[in-house]
Amino acid sequence: EKRIVPYEVIGEKTLHQLVDAFYSRVAKHPDLIPIFPKDLSEVAKKQKMFLTQYLGGPQLYTNAYGHPMMRARHLPHEITPKRAKAWLSCMSEAMDEIKLEGTIREEFFSRLVLTARHMVNTPDELT
Ligand code: HEM
Repeated sequence: EKRIVPYEVIGEKTLHQLVDAFYSRVAKHPDLIPIFPKDLSEVAKKQKMFLTQYLGGPQLYTNAYGHPMMRARHLPHEITPKRAKAWLSCMSEAMDEIKLEGTIREEFFSRLVLTARHMVNTPDELT
């Protein structure tokens, strides 16, 4: 039997559109602006590579940068529950914009909710 690969269902073009729509929201979100660089092009490029492999596509991120260890890579940044919520709302709106719908969206988004929660390293009160 054949296993469904979300990356193949979504496709490279749509995934790249999603990441671009996502970072244009991050750039304007008051809770996220303080921790992101002004120029988001590098992080957008890395995110395209990371999400490609996250969704079962080629291991682009690992091949270029080594083991993802995403929680560790986020430790230099204050990721609060409030910022995780903001991140997820930017992603949800980006999915609306590019019209990613149905089961594929729901499964992808639920996974991102868990990953975002896992990145939290600072309580809201400390920021
Ligand atoms: C990098 C914030 C969740 C994937 C970053 C950076 C920040 C950040 C500030 C560094 C940008 C820079 O200076 O270059 C956040 C916040 C999150 C979050 C506030 C809320 C929970 C996630 C999630 C994923 C993710 C859920 C993946 C599904 C990445 C990747 C990078 C990155 C791939 C680039 C890492 C590298 O430098 O190689 N994030 N992030 N982030 N984030 Fe997140």
